[in-house]
Amino acid sequence: MPKLDLERALALRTPEETRRFYADWAARYDSEHVAGNDYIQPRRLADCFAEAGGAGPVLDFGAGTGVMGAELARLGIGPIDGLDLTPEMLDVARTKGVYRDLIAGNILDGLELPAASYAGVVSAGTFTLGHVGPEGLPPLLRLVRPGGLIALAINHAHYDAAGFADAFEALAGQIADLTLTDIPYYGAKATGPHKDDTGYATLFRKV
Ligand SMILES: C[S@@+](CC[C@H](N)C(=O)[O-])C[C@H]1O[C@@H](n2cnc3c(N)ncnc32)[C@H](O)[C@@H]1O
Repeated sequence: MPKLDLERALALRTPEETRRFYADWAARYDSEHVAGNDYIQPRRLADCFAEAGGAGPVLDFGAGTGVMGAELARLGIGPIDGLDLTPEMLDVARTKGVYRDLIAGNILDGLELPAASYAGVVSAGTFTLGHVGPEGLPPLLRLVRPGGLIALAINHAHYDAAGFADAFEALAGQIADLTLTDIPYYGAKATGPHKDDTGYATLFRKV
């Protein structure tokens, strides 16, 4: 039931609900969502990151089953670490064989990861409705070296509803070179109410 699962994903409300939902979906995510919905957002975002000069070490935030990591590896970018709330999703990501390290945790819980340890951060499918809002930006920024490149796919409706424009404005002085580029989330084989969903490939550098 791919469409039903996508609807449910976009309506999640709490970290515990999110973790339980993705724990259940993990084994079917690649076949139902990635293949079934022709989910191309990570590929498009990885291409934007590479075109802007993105390099490793890179953190894949909300790594899930490792779709984004596989796209970065395709582009020769690494090493790649993955961070995700749901261990069962990371179990699938591990099988892709492209991650140096996989970290289970909630970015909003003040994880004790070393500051300034990454040259880049990427995130697909996680700054979206029912998931992570602008409050996820400062803890991610802390993990990036000065000059590092951050590439986040942010769902259009979520960008407006959650106040990302104000959040980026509040980070003036800490970030530079912000660009927003429209990207499609699903390819030509997608069907259903979300087939035309789009978002911003949001790119910026840490000052
Ligand atoms: C739609 S999946 C995207 C997975 C992958 N990036 C992709 O594009 O296929 C969203 C992921 O975000 C993770 N997630 C949601 N909230 C999170 C948080 N606060 N901290 C870390 N991961 C989170 C979920 O566990 C889930 O694996």
